[in-house]
Amino acid sequence: MKRPSRYSARLSASATLPIVAIVLALATPPATAQDGARLAAQLCVACHGVHGDSQSPMFPKLNGQTRDYLVAQLKGFGQHQRSESDARSYMWAIASQLDDATIASLADYYAQQAPTAGSAGDAALVAEGQKIFEQGLSEKGVPACASCHGAQGQGNGQFPRLAGQHAEYLMRQIEVFQNGTRANAPVMSAVAHTLGKEDAKAVTAFLQSR
Ligand code: HEC
Ligand code: HEC
Repeated sequence: MKRPSRYSARLSASATLPIVAIVLALATPPATAQDGARLAAQLCVACHGVHGDSQSPMFPKLNGQTRDYLVAQLKGFGQHQRSESDARSYMWAIASQLDDATIASLADYYAQQAPTAGSAGDAALVAEGQKIFEQGLSEKGVPACASCHGAQGQGNGQFPRLAGQHAEYLMRQIEVFQNGTRANAPVMSAVAHTLGKEDAKAVTAFLQSR
């Protein structure tokens, strides 16, 4: 059955509007480092917060994230390689509009923003998570997260900062590594498969508290 045409015209107009806004914001000469700040304020702030300091666990914090990781993620979204459902719904369309110079300017901008200090959580859970983060769980084959993500969870190059990130966001990522929908990260997916739900809760509570 066909929907009334008035309805489909309205539907497609509203679906096109965000893309038009993105194209207008980007319709300037090639992006420079300063453009990162302007584009972030125009295109990203509504979800990722001022300077990337997102206030909602739906949206990851970007402030102080490593440059290489940010570049890799924006390319992964734009090329439809990072494909969990929230990535498809929120990041595919916008990232596919960004050229390499624009991606570099946004990554430079967010990498230079000071990270936010975490907020304290349940002390026992945080202590348990710290142990997993620093030492792993040898009996379950869980490697020490610090060996890749840095002693303070600060990240390094392709290994993202985890410190101060929303625990709920980190839990969702562990789940999408486990269920195979964030499929472009074989190393981290293998690590995620070693983590039980309670271990994941503890380590993400620890990370949010940093
Ligand atoms: C409509 C809301 C929305 C807008 C606008 C948006 N994002 Fe996102 N972004 C998200 C969501 C939601 C996620 C998490 C996706 C997931 O959970 O898989 C995300 C994830 C990301 C990630 C991955 C972070 C990580 O830790 O892996 C990066 C990088 C990113 N966005 C950059 C940007 C940039 C740069 C812009 C502006 C050009 C932008 N986003 C605009 C909603 C948005
Ligand atoms: C052998 C190296 C390695 C170890 C050990 C490791 N990770 Fe990772 N992790 C990675 C890499 C690489 C990525 C980035 C994947 C990508 O490129 O998308 C990542 C990404 C993540 C992400 C997604 C972050 C985001 O912003 O979306 C989470 C969450 C995570 N790791 C948690 C952990 C936890 C918890 C541990 C310890 C139990 C751990 N990692 C141990 C390599 C590692």
